[in-house]
Amino acid sequence: MIHDLLLETCALIKEKMNQELEISVKTSHRDLVTNVDQEIEVFLSRRLRAAYPHIKILGEETDKEINLHQGEVWIIDPIDGTSNFIKQRRNFGILLAKTVDGEAIDGYICDVINETIYHGSKGKGVTKDKQPFKKTYDSSLKKSLVALSDGFLLRHVSKPFELIRDCLGTRYTGACSIDGIAVLEGWLGAYGIRISSPWDIAPHLLFADELGLVCLNLDGTKRTIDQDSPFFFGQKEIVEALLMYCSGE
Ligand code: IPD
Ligand code: CA
Ligand code: CA
Repeated sequence: MIHDLLLETCALIKEKMNQELEISVKTSHRDLVTNVDQEIEVFLSRRLRAAYPHIKILGEETDKEINLHQGEVWIIDPIDGTSNFIKQRRNFGILLAKTVDGEAIDGYICDVINETIYHGSKGKGVTKDKQPFKKTYDSSLKKSLVALSDGFLLRHVSKPFELIRDCLGTRYTGACSIDGIAVLEGWLGAYGIRISSPWDIAPHLLFADELGLVCLNLDGTKRTIDQDSPFFFGQKEIVEALLMYCSGE
């Protein structure tokens, strides 16, 4: 049901993105929202509530007063990578997760333009477009591309020149859904995320567990759903190597 709902949502976003967008500033000129983000969140919430009337919903653009640690909560990021959506009309995704008592049980990352859907289910592995998905990763920093935003590099990497020199190269898309998919696929060895909210991180935590990847804070501890500190998502050996270039703050 969710798979079909996400495909339907992709089609709806594509239809809406050809119309003029209404863009508003949230906290700063780097934090924008459009009418499409809001409309898609309403659309997904209504459809989820119709299917599962008992659930609570935590959506990025609406009600944030939800206790994630109590019962079943669905978390929605209707458009992840809003700046890309506005400027590029590509490189953005939908993030959706079902959590129970603060733990992600089902997680979805959807690349909207390509209509590709990754689904992780606790203890049951991962599927890509409904087909079993498993990867063997090449775990060496020297041979891996890593994604780091400018903010991550400037604030949290104490040896940026050495890090850039020692990996294959750096890439950053600007949407944790799209960079997250690149990690799942092995196109990136790891991704450094500076700030994130439960709607950004919930699917990543589940995918990490199911695919043998890690989400680690800069002090090496395991990331949890409602921390908002920087962390790496990626292959264990690569993340551990990257931590050596960071200040740990
Ligand atoms: C943002 C993007 C970005 C990440 C930010 C997120 P949004 O999501 O995923 O890549 O660095 O932390 O907030 O605001 O476009 O949904
Ligand atoms: Ca987001
Ligand atoms: Ca968003």
